Amino acid sequence: MTDSPPNPVAAPFGKTQDGTEVQLYTLTNAHGLQVSITNYGGTITSLLVPDKAGKPGEIVLGFDNVSGYQSPEFRKAGPYFGALIGRYGNRIAKGKFTLDGKEYTLAQNNGENTLHGGKKGFDKVLWQAEPGTSAEGQTLKLSYLSKDGEEGYPGNLTVTVVYTLTADDALKIDYSATTDKATPVNLTNHAYFNLGGGKDVLGHEVTLAADRYNVVDAGLIPTGELRPVQGTPFDFTSPHTIGERIAQVPGGYDHNWVLNSATGQPAATVYEPTTGRTMEVTTTEPGLQFYTGNFLDGTLKGASGQTYGKHAGFCLETQHFPDSPNQPKFPSTILKPGQTLHSTTIYKFGVRQ
Ligand code: BGC
Repeated sequence: MTDSPPNPVAAPFGKTQDGTEVQLYTLTNAHGLQVSITNYGGTITSLLVPDKAGKPGEIVLGFDNVSGYQSPEFRKAGPYFGALIGRYGNRIAKGKFTLDGKEYTLAQNNGENTLHGGKKGFDKVLWQAEPGTSAEGQTLKLSYLSKDGEEGYPGNLTVTVVYTLTADDALKIDYSATTDKATPVNLTNHAYFNLGGGKDVLGHEVTLAADRYNVVDAGLIPTGELRPVQGTPFDFTSPHTIGERIAQVPGGYDHNWVLNSATGQPAATVYEPTTGRTMEVTTTEPGLQFYTGNFLDGTLKGASGQTYGKHAGFCLETQHFPDSPNQPKFPSTILKPGQTLHSTTIYKFGVRQ
């Protein structure tokens, strides 16, 4: 006899535009948490978490069929709901970098820049999926081989991502990768959270363990300056609602905070007062892209018909800093042959009464 939970359940999730059947894997735990992940883009499509009354509710933005992620409106808006992002999360300036004396040119998909991997990043590919269980809970292992030259990046990159829904109410994401040529790698997940289920997230209280943030130019490329947050609307070292100072930040929050390492504190803590839901994010990564859904404009509708307007969700993308391949002073994102990249991020859920 074993009391380990059964493997995640797999169900059809529709067909991609080229006719390939896609699956949806649903992981559950004993406390009513449930996460659904499709092998298309390794995308988290749904995450149900109990509120302070014990009632599970949806806390991420997503669709109930793969067609939602392939519609012309979704492609045009490019919000990357719930997807795995690679090879390089966020922007690489002008889609160019030089490595070991050689200049590489990437697919440009954000003006002159490359965003989230290029035209067909890891969010738009099919991952090989292996549902299972570990000592911590139900798991979904996803693997993908990104071939040498894909989107302009050097080297065959073998990527593995393991999602675990733990017995202590966390969604853990373990990333690993190896390569046969030196290449930049910056992996993350692009889930949009809305812990209250309301039309926007402006009432959520956020704390970030970060004393500095990356200053960016008009194209959202870091200038290289790591500026203290103190006395600015970027100071979330004590709790502030998202809405409190957002009007002082042109366009809204879409910046990379420099995490204070070695504080032992979570990188981020979020509290939603109406439902009591809390989320704590811990990570091995040095940076956190806090993005408040500024570009959502109501053209997309979710699984139960709700309109996703401006600030309908927020992202906490754990990652290295944007444009690191062109910023020698930033922590390196270069993975070399013989090395293995390991990165772990944990989103832990709870309630405050
Ligand atoms: C970026 C935003 C971008 C969004 C959706 C975020 O990670 O920082 O600038 O609009 O992703 O693509």
